[in-house]
Amino acid sequence: MTSTGERLALLGGSPAISWPLPHEVWPPRAERSELAELAAQRDDDISIKGSSGPVRALEDAFRAFLDHRIRWAVTFNSGTSALLAAYFALGVREGVEVVGPALTYHAALSPVHLLRGEVVLADIDVRTRGLDPESLEQAITERTKVITVVHQWGHPCDMDAILRIADKHGLRVLEDCSHAHGSRYKGRLCGTFGDAAVFSLQANKAVFAGEGGILVTNDDTVHDRATLLGHYRDRSRDEVLDAELRQYWVTGFGLKLRMSPFNAIVALHSLAAFPERKQARHNALGYFGERLAEVDYIEPVPVAEEVDMGAWYGYKPLFRPEAMPGVSRTVLIDALRAEGMEVGAPSGPRLSTLPLYTGAQSPLFPGTSKVANEPVPGSAAELVEQRALSLPTFTEWPTGKALIDQYIGAFEKVGRHRTALAEHAAADG
Ligand SMILES: Cc1ncc(COP(=O)(O)O)c(C=O)c1O
Repeated sequence: MTSTGERLALLGGSPAISWPLPHEVWPPRAERSELAELAAQRDDDISIKGSSGPVRALEDAFRAFLDHRIRWAVTFNSGTSALLAAYFALGVREGVEVVGPALTYHAALSPVHLLRGEVVLADIDVRTRGLDPESLEQAITERTKVITVVHQWGHPCDMDAILRIADKHGLRVLEDCSHAHGSRYKGRLCGTFGDAAVFSLQANKAVFAGEGGILVTNDDTVHDRATLLGHYRDRSRDEVLDAELRQYWVTGFGLKLRMSPFNAIVALHSLAAFPERKQARHNALGYFGERLAEVDYIEPVPVAEEVDMGAWYGYKPLFRPEAMPGVSRTVLIDALRAEGMEVGAPSGPRLSTLPLYTGAQSPLFPGTSKVANEPVPGSAAELVEQRALSLPTFTEWPTGKALIDQYIGAFEKVGRHRTALAEHAAADG
């Protein structure tokens, strides 16, 4: 007879994980020095119109963070705003196509619609979870101007191949590094390959402001146009280099998207703490991946030899349904959750399934048409969408090791009872 401890928790047994939820605790709490700076800023300057104080300090610190390879770093009030400015600065407008990955967070590409550009979706590579170079090349037309690479979950894309394609077709490259703070490809930091790069600094990110984003570029025109899009008056007057463009400084190009000094202070502190936190994630997720390799129905997250995962923004291994006949991902998640695990299906669907991306009519500009991006049946994007599991990005080390061991124990327990789970699923219909 099976003891209740050994029976699946979904079927009335005791959970394998005793650690109380939540298991992913982020962002970390502020230290006193950060709170003191926030308080002092309150009575000093609560709206920075140019680039001084903590906003300037953050931009300088970010350029240093990128190994001083970048000339310009411009803060914005979100990663999405910075992406809008980047697309505008790179010349996206009516009639221009942007090729990007079929499965990623929508904001990497959604601002293209507002500029009346067209998003063309290419497949991803299961290994990197970013753009598949072959599919990218097939998606290029004579109207393509920009390639958007997203270093998904912190794993750098195949940059050699992508840059070769961009060069061959004369295209600009925008790197969305919102998951990839500190990630390196062949030793070089993500964010230093493209014509421009954007990092979200939203609260979940490895370097966080609360809400915020930063655009980096070595291209003076991209800098000027992005600054004018989001920073009218003082900053445009003082920093736009081109005299022709600078004449628009009073109005800029109509938007004010600047970062608040409070967010800049939070970001400065999280940037300073980043190296230590990054190391903790490497230790924790490196160990988790090694242990998960023992679980036959899970494919741990692959990390290519030539890359450094930087912030390890997410841990999304794949379910191997062929190793668990009769069990769907939904049933597996139910069983693992019952064991006390914080697990789910990743929230972002393929972009081609979202209303903004479907249909022949533009919902933003009624009466005008847009390219409909149909999903490709059997794509890698579809496979990852259907099989990925979302697990905590364990950030505590070595204190978190015991929790990781409990997770492995829960995976193994569910594996031992796969037949009972399949029977339960069949009985449930
Ligand atoms: C890949 C990617 N791009 C862009 C964004 C948008 O950034 P923000 O939330 O700062 O606007 C996110 C946010 O999660 C993201 O994951």
